[in-house]
Amino acid sequence: MSNLVRTGVIGVGWGRMHVEAYHACPDTVPVAICDANPERLAERRQQYGITRGYSDYRELLEQPDIDAVSIALPNDMHVPVAIAALQAGKHVLCEKPPAITGDAAAQIVAAAREYRRKLMVCFNYRYRPDAQWLKQLLDEGRFGRLYAVKTGWLRNSGIPNLGSWFTCKAQSGGGPLIDLGVHMLDLALWLLGYPAVQTVSAVSFAEFGPHGGKIYVRRSQVADPRPQPNAPRPFDVEDMLMALIRFADGRALQLEVNWATHTSAGRDDYFLTLYGTAAGADLYVANYATTDTVTLHSDPGGVMSSTRPVFRQQSRISLPSGHDALVDHFARCILDDLEPSPGGDEGVALMRLIDAIYASAQSGREVVVERTKNEEQRTKNEEQRTKNEERR
Ligand SMILES: NC(=O)c1ccc[n+]([C@@H]2O[C@H](COP(=O)([O-])OP(=O)(O)OC[C@H]3O[C@@H](n4cnc5c(N)ncnc54)[C@H](O)[C@@H]3O)[C@@H](O)[C@H]2O)c1
Repeated sequence: MSNLVRTGVIGVGWGRMHVEAYHACPDTVPVAICDANPERLAERRQQYGITRGYSDYRELLEQPDIDAVSIALPNDMHVPVAIAALQAGKHVLCEKPPAITGDAAAQIVAAAREYRRKLMVCFNYRYRPDAQWLKQLLDEGRFGRLYAVKTGWLRNSGIPNLGSWFTCKAQSGGGPLIDLGVHMLDLALWLLGYPAVQTVSAVSFAEFGPHGGKIYVRRSQVADPRPQPNAPRPFDVEDMLMALIRFADGRALQLEVNWATHTSAGRDDYFLTLYGTAAGADLYVANYATTDTVTLHSDPGGVMSSTRPVFRQQSRISLPSGHDALVDHFARCILDDLEPSPGGDEGVALMRLIDAIYASAQSGREVVVERTKNEEQRTKNEEQRTKNEERR
């Protein structure tokens, strides 16, 4: 392979973000796209000047000059297409969620190991500069011990494409938890160091979707909170979910996600609150804002202080979703043989947590999560680290 990664993008709805990021990255070039919808395929080819377009992903995977592919298809197709791509010798950047269950996500990880190709999962929000900066402060010890995190994504009218695969459990795997919560869980778990989960307690609701209410309203449009009785169905996923996650090392995570609620008109906001022994922080992103998103809280000398710092951007960013920085990293992993972050193992851990959250919401009971040997070891290491810190 030359020092330029030649890429293909399969599914060019949201996949357009991947095409744009591959265009912008100095180490990659998008050479082909694929979509089963001929109008969309033609439109994207023209929009991005891509000469090679395929309606069948298998044809794209047969192209010997393509080194890596992005997969941005309906969620239930991620696993079969990712495995086919890895088998064909391509590195894979898979959109979130990597699969609709933990066991299915583990199949992609096994294939990446077998065919020795890079597998990266598109938890792109950790590549936003504000999230990267919080991680840097955490690694520098500025928060002390991070003992709890609260996170969520809250929408007024944001059920995506009501009546499409998004709201059909068999194809999507779930509602706002697997669609939006997956990003917030990754952000929180990444900052917490992906600790082993001990118990999960969750509750879910579907108060608007089944009646065709509160469909997706683009940011450029005015929110219409009125129910839409003629919208297509079925809708067999949640439109709101709350969860409390207890980790084996004693720390905790609280989550709230929704697609539809009676809250401020047009609201489409996500947040993350960090509770540390030395300081705390609020990340609050209203409608995909890129500035003024972080507030730090501490009490130096016993005086409470909250500041909204201006932090230096660590990477070029044109997309508020963080896709461009994520694609830069994917390319470096391929060219320099590095481990992708987020990698497949984090994808599996996250999907196993989502399995447990849905199991708890469905049963109405707390779920106890079994730990793997790796997680046992990580918990012991974390306990030791805490003891060492307390001794200091
Ligand atoms: N990371 C993010 O921030 C982010 C944002 C939005 C969506 N996504 C993810 O991207 C994926 C796609 O979401 P979307 O909003 O683009 O959905 P979408 O339905 O708008 O687009 C999916 C595309 O896949 C095509 N397709 C379906 N079956 C196909 C097949 N067999 N072969 C080729 N093409 C096929 C469809 O024609 C469509 O154009 C989902 O997994 C979603 O979770 C991620």
